[in-house]
Amino acid sequence: METRHLIEPENLSLDELDGLFVLAERIKNDPARFKELCRGKLLASLFFEPSTRTRLSFEAAMLRLGGSCLGFAEPGSSSTAKGESLADTIRTVACYADLIVMRSPKEGAALLASRYSDIPVVNAGDGGHHHPTQTLTDLFTIKQLRGNIENLTVGFCGDLKFGRTVHSLAHTLTRYPNIKMVFIAPPELQIPDYIKREINRIEGVEYYETDSLDKAVGGLDILYMTRVQKERFFNEEDYIRLKDSYILNTEKLEQAKKSLMILHPLPRVNEIDIEVDADPRAAYFKQAKFGMFIRMALIASLLGAVSC
Ligand code: NCD
Repeated sequence: METRHLIEPENLSLDELDGLFVLAERIKNDPARFKELCRGKLLASLFFEPSTRTRLSFEAAMLRLGGSCLGFAEPGSSSTAKGESLADTIRTVACYADLIVMRSPKEGAALLASRYSDIPVVNAGDGGHHHPTQTLTDLFTIKQLRGNIENLTVGFCGDLKFGRTVHSLAHTLTRYPNIKMVFIAPPELQIPDYIKREINRIEGVEYYETDSLDKAVGGLDILYMTRVQKERFFNEEDYIRLKDSYILNTEKLEQAKKSLMILHPLPRVNEIDIEVDADPRAAYFKQAKFGMFIRMALIASLLGAVSC
């Protein structure tokens, strides 16, 4: 059987996405039933870039399924520091583990890794390109809190140029019915042309670009805030000039719908004032928790422990 990898959200069909949401909900409602599902299986987490939620939620997910984890959280402690190629690292780790979760600062690294791996590779972020399991997290959150993923106006705000979570989510939302998107960013950080081209190919998906959060916020059902991606800037001056382009606070939210859902992949820097955390519309910490359940569902299905 061919090894399944998850490099971009496109690797999963809509039916498979639905299957994962159903399984994640079952796991969330009755975690004890699933606690032996992956007993004896090993997850390798290879993080060549910093992470809190993605790495820990994958490891927590595997441990809660009864499996085990090994790996590294920074490349300095692996043979990469000695000059080993990614291909050789992957070939080696594939001898020890059953599933690889990897994050790299380089676009395309996970795809490359998948070509050298006979066990599933999951892309936990490749540079400013894609982050499919954050998209699973985002969609599962929307489904859990709203019941369905349709008839939504979704605003993306912040660093839409380098924000890989935005690229993956915007692209995937085009597959759901009656979605409108509003890209809110300073011109230098607007959504890349290649994502717009992909969106334009899909009939019936509407979007517009603006630099004004104030003007857009009132029309949104979901506001997806993002951090300005400091590590992807070529010079610090630009980062300093742009880093506080948007700060969501309670005053800005006065114009927003009562039913608005505020998401953020986290980590947050300044873009959401902590006073917003107490607003019932703030869903970003719930989102982090949902991320663990959907990753449990993904691991179980990639390892063939359940069928989705
Ligand atoms: C995001 C990422 O790594 O792209 N974080 C995450 O995985 N939850 C967003 C970010 O770092 O800003």
